[in-house]
Amino acid sequence: VDLAARLAGIVGAAHVLTDPDLVASYQTDWTRRWRGHARLVVRPADTGQVAACVAACAEAGAPIVPQGGNTGLVGGGVPLHGEVLLSLTRCDRLEPVDTLTGQVTAGAGATLTQVRAHVRAAGYDLGVDIAARDSATVGGVLATNAGGARVLRYGTTRRQVLGVEAVLADGTVVGRLDGLVKDNVGYDLAQLLVGSEGTLAVLTRARLSLFPLLPVRAVALVAVDGTAAAQTVFGGLVEQLDTLRAAEFFHADGLDLVCHTTGMRPPFDQPCPTYLLVECAARAGHGTDLSDALAAALATADGVRDAVVSTDGAGREALWAYRERHTESINAAGVPVKLDVAVPPRALAQAERDIRAAVAAVAPAATVILFGHLAEGNLHVNVLGATDQADPVADAVLRAVAAHQGSISAEHGVGRAKVGWVHLSRSPAEIAAMRAVKRALDPAGLFNPGVLLPPEPHR
Ligand code: MLT
Ligand code: ZN
Repeated sequence: VDLAARLAGIVGAAHVLTDPDLVASYQTDWTRRWRGHARLVVRPADTGQVAACVAACAEAGAPIVPQGGNTGLVGGGVPLHGEVLLSLTRCDRLEPVDTLTGQVTAGAGATLTQVRAHVRAAGYDLGVDIAARDSATVGGVLATNAGGARVLRYGTTRRQVLGVEAVLADGTVVGRLDGLVKDNVGYDLAQLLVGSEGTLAVLTRARLSLFPLLPVRAVALVAVDGTAAAQTVFGGLVEQLDTLRAAEFFHADGLDLVCHTTGMRPPFDQPCPTYLLVECAARAGHGTDLSDALAAALATADGVRDAVVSTDGAGREALWAYRERHTESINAAGVPVKLDVAVPPRALAQAERDIRAAVAAVAPAATVILFGHLAEGNLHVNVLGATDQADPVADAVLRAVAAHQGSISAEHGVGRAKVGWVHLSRSPAEIAAMRAVKRALDPAGLFNPGVLLPPEPHR
């Protein structure tokens, strides 16, 4: 029996896709930079079906690319060379919130928006939040250890994961979803799989720790003279407010592009070089205190050129949109070379200058749009008009970042995009240890070939 027929026997014929029109959306990412082809798409509905599919592929020697909402930005979830595309989106079951512990078990295919709506009804919130929330899934968020806009308050995905269930390369199911906060029995398999980018196992479910829902929110957009000024304002706010949970920044060129693409009106009459967006959040009952405290802190912070504060839902969303609609506006302008990096915050402003100079040296006609998450020194480098120079641009930018003791991947992962530069952020001994783990868990190289680790040197 051929593989498609075997998989159809497991998931039902309707969930094995081979028609090019149906397969198309799984084969390309949303920037259109990563496109390839899948042998077929298989859509299992639960852990048992995932395990059976993996076992069948292993037996057939057919490599697998696991995929969630396909919102990744480094080519880590796109089949390039005829792999089997294992879509987890049907594994989206949400179990009741455990209100005694503030935990929930979620299927890998549930979107962040679905999980958030589910836990909110019980008075809880999900710590991770990213602009792709409506499509991004629990499995993908764990596989990349996604960061996002609330890391300042809640940490990255890793900090919110108490356990996972996953399917290993031979089809065995492993994992713990009991949610024990104290459980020190050997290696932490769950944390090993967080950030493993689909190269070690297929995540099927996760036990997540939740946070109390903070329904009272105030958002401010602050115009400043540059990145260093944004950091000064942020420092002033941190001193005065214990409710801060986001600090994002972008520049005039990005704002222009967003307004041009979306038709939104600019936020201020006078343009400024840089914009800082901050959000405060608190429990019910702190309504007026929160926006008053934010406005008062802004009134005394050094470096504020102009500011607007919004507390109502529509106003807050409108301010967030200036920041969150950067990605789609950049995609609309062309196919970007995207490099997500982090540098120590003290080096952020200089790193931005160095990155712009590095790109100008190899691709003088390219446009560079920078924005990101201020508190972590997490910079999103978007280079338009340089797809034919993608490797030299990446090399120049990532070397500039490494020179500041930064990371070549802050939150999007290595994927295929940065495989050639892992050595800038990890030592040969660390890469050898990662390879040993990969070999131990996936000896045949079944999962996500070509992602994360550089090709094995000849031995
Ligand atoms: C963001 O912060 O908006 C995301 O990381 C997406 C992006 O970098 O384009
Ligand atoms: Zn980001």
